[in-house]
Order: sequence, then C-alpha cells, then structure tokens
Amino acid sequence: MQSTIEVLKTRRSVKKFNDKRVSKEDLEVILDAAVNAPSGMNAQSPKILVLQRKAIIERFSEWNKSFYPKEVLKNLPEDFDPFYGASTLIIVLADKTIHTHVEDASLVIGNILNAASSMGIGSCWIHRAKEEFDSLQGKELLKVWNLSENYVGVGHVVLGYPEDDYKPTEKHIKEDYVVYLDELI
Ligand SMILES: Cc1cc2nc3c(=O)[nH]c(=O)nc-3n(C[C@H](O)[C@H](O)[C@H](O)COP(=O)(O)O)c2cc1C
Repeated sequence: MQSTIEVLKTRRSVKKFNDKRVSKEDLEVILDAAVNAPSGMNAQSPKILVLQRKAIIERFSEWNKSFYPKEVLKNLPEDFDPFYGASTLIIVLADKTIHTHVEDASLVIGNILNAASSMGIGSCWIHRAKEEFDSLQGKELLKVWNLSENYVGVGHVVLGYPEDDYKPTEKHIKEDYVVYLDELI
C-alpha cells in the first residue's frame, strides 16, 4: 500500500483502457472514499451515478462526444472514444441550489481519482457533464431517474485498467505554481 502522499504525487490520468472490469468490491471501496469527501456545511450536495454496462457506457460516450467543440472534433479520429474504452463510468452531478455544489462535486471526483490510484486502478476526469445535463435530453434523463431538476453535471470519471502499452504523458509542474507570500509581504 502506497502512502497518501505517494498516491497524490503519482496519480496520473489513464487514457487507454483494456476490457478488464473493476470488481464490485473495489468499486465499493472507491465509492466509500467518494462519499467521505468534505462538502460545504456537510450538505453532501453531489449525486454519484455509476454504470458498468458496456453498451450503455458506449451510448454515454457518443453523447459526450456530441458536446465536443467542432474544431476539436475535426482533428480527432472518427472512432474517437472520449471515455477511452473504460469499463466503468461514474457521473457526478450536484444540486445547484447548494452554494458549494461545484466545489463539493469536485472533491468527490478528486477522492475517486486518488482512491482508484491507490488501488492500482486507472482513472480520468472527463468533462462536458454540465453541457450534457443542461440539455433537454439530460433533463429528461433526470426525470426518468427520479432525480431533482436541480442537479447539474459537474464531471465524469472513467475507471479501469490501463492497456499494457499505456504510458501517461510526462507531467511538468509549473515553477510558479506556489507563491510564498511571507517572502513578498
Ligand atoms: C476539470 C477537468 C476536466 C478534464 N477533462 C478531460 C477530458 O474531457 N478528457 C480527457 O482526456 N482528460 C480530461 N481531464 C484530464 C486532464 O487532461 C489531466 O488531469 C491533465 O492532463 C493532467 O494530467 P494528470 O491527471 O495525469 O496529472 C480533465 C481534468 C480535469 C481536472
């Protein structure tokens, strides 16, 4: 088991998954870490939707792709999968009537990414959940799932196991990321 600091420093997004599915047991551990994220006034404003059925994930992938800006899409292969073939999809929504909903949901997503990494499971935050659930189709889905219309999309997480040949892009941390104010004031 890696230390927390090691996990936080070594987690990298995975953008090429094999077909191996995350087990229910592992998924539960990750979701337990997710629901323990802090939230403003402990409102627990997010809603965490979990999918493991391949055919359904593929439909969500197509839907996500439809929100890509045209100028980005035209430079991607026609069969581009925004979920990178991942076998588990988590969609994080949050209740917009709660002042801190975006922050709350972002911390949930962060916990998912880091918990997965600590277990040797690959993950990536995927964008465009806001656009999805602001759309008419998204609002219809909320109705079908008996969820309040106050939920907005914040992000997706794809989970799974990286392809053998997958190498995350090398990450350079900006030199001026941290500013020590004591030295300036
Ligand atoms: C808010 C947010 C949205 C992101 N959306 C996408 C996305 O739509 N597709 C994607 O491939 N990666 C997405 N990423 C992953 C970033 O590309 C990745 O975190 C970044 O390149 C840094 O790499 P690392 O996660 O390996 O440290 C997103 C990350 C964040 C935090």
